[in-house]
Amino acid sequence: MLVLEKNSMTEEIEKLVTKYGKERSALMPILQAIQREHTYIPDFAQQEVARLLDIHPVEVFSVISFYSFLHSVPQGRNIVRLCKTIVCDLAGKEEVEKAVKRELNIEIGQTTKDKKITLEFTNCLGMCDQGPAMMVNDKVFTKLTPEKAVKILKEIR
Ligand code: FES
Repeated sequence: MLVLEKNSMTEEIEKLVTKYGKERSALMPILQAIQREHTYIPDFAQQEVARLLDIHPVEVFSVISFYSFLHSVPQGRNIVRLCKTIVCDLAGKEEVEKAVKRELNIEIGQTTKDKKITLEFTNCLGMCDQGPAMMVNDKVFTKLTPEKAVKILKEIR
């Protein structure tokens, strides 16, 4: 079983290398494609990407660690990103944060037990005049109150 999984992962990455090439510039699109498929970039995939691009695995891991949108652990099906920047802070982000954490029963950086939602902080979403703001996958929600944020979470669960 483990061997089969490894082979299919290797095949998947080989196809990505064929598509994006073996240059250093191919690393990011390959990692993003793996994450889209699996919600994260498993250890074995990191090793295989390094081997197939002929770079050191530490370099692959460094890139994943550097970018907050790349993950080395499984993520929830939905990613909720709460703006942590000062304007949203002043607009009442803290109360929204408390309500969201209470509703999901997790802390920032964690994923719900049912794997449906991962909660993260993000920097400014560009909606400062309508804060507090939060992004659910690709959609931005603004002028949040604790009640409004909880309602949004209930709808995606
Ligand atoms: S500070 Fe939150 S959207 Fe800009």
